[in-house]
Amino acid sequence: MAFQRKGLQARTLSSEEEEKLQRDRAVVSDFKQQKLEKDAQKNWDLFYKRNSTNFFKDRHWTTREFEELRSCREYEGQKLTLLEAGCGVGNCLFPLLEEDLNIFAYACDFSPRAVDYVKQNPSYNRERCKVFQCDLTKDDLLDHIPPESVDVVMLIFVLSAVHPEKMHLVLLNVYKVLKPGRSVLFRDYGLHDHAMLRFKAGSKLGENFYVRQDGTRSYFFTDEFLAKLFVDSGYEEVAKEYVFRETVNRKEGLCVPRVFLQSKFRKPPKNTDLTDH
Ligand SMILES: C[S@@+](CC[C@H](N)C(=O)[O-])C[C@H]1O[C@@H](n2cnc3c(N)ncnc32)[C@H](O)[C@@H]1O
Repeated sequence: MAFQRKGLQARTLSSEEEEKLQRDRAVVSDFKQQKLEKDAQKNWDLFYKRNSTNFFKDRHWTTREFEELRSCREYEGQKLTLLEAGCGVGNCLFPLLEEDLNIFAYACDFSPRAVDYVKQNPSYNRERCKVFQCDLTKDDLLDHIPPESVDVVMLIFVLSAVHPEKMHLVLLNVYKVLKPGRSVLFRDYGLHDHAMLRFKAGSKLGENFYVRQDGTRSYFFTDEFLAKLFVDSGYEEVAKEYVFRETVNRKEGLCVPRVFLQSKFRKPPKNTDLTDH
């Protein structure tokens, strides 16, 4: 059973949780950090080799949480063009395509295996979807998508996998393909999520940044950090909230506090009032 609430303040830690984070402050050596950065793509590709399409559940909540994805276009039949950046095997993408026939979706990921899984999905249809492999921190999205042609960009649990010093490169990259006045929809791990407190000593890479056993990395966001990142890249903040989910497993007597940060940022509209008065 899961309980959910939303709020503007990050989760407060218990004294034991606080102590645990204080105790495990040592960070991984520079040498190992550089190797993790170099191997980032390989490690995600191996993740999909091990888990194929079975790791993440289909995400059916996106239309509930983000009105931009609902069929609220100005006239019947109007297409919505979206980009899911870091789409994995399509757990977000396919529910959306199945729900709304007037969506055209670009989707990309830097794991070639994940991209292949998307292409092999029986719901993949080249008339409604274009998936491609790319590293969002260095490959230009304009090689695959016309400038300012996308109505909605989705960043769902992807920015957390990128090194914090490179996150702005992802935001600048998607900025180029997003139409002025349109938004980036963001959901990702929030500060003090259960996963952050479960890391063993020796997994810390930096502030709120950790490495999993398989070499994939995860950042845990505060709303301030995220807003600065977007605003410095030219966006305006539209909405933000922490989502707190308490998953109660009665059989095992476990209560797991999950924390996500859900936000929206807009590319400013073009100034149409440029004529001299
Ligand atoms: C946690 S998964 C989320 C997948 C999907 N968005 C979802 O919600 O199921 C993170 C994804 O980000 C991708 N990724 C990480 N860094 C990336 C980068 N620099 N460029 C493109 N994709 C990246 C990984 O390959 C992985 O598929």
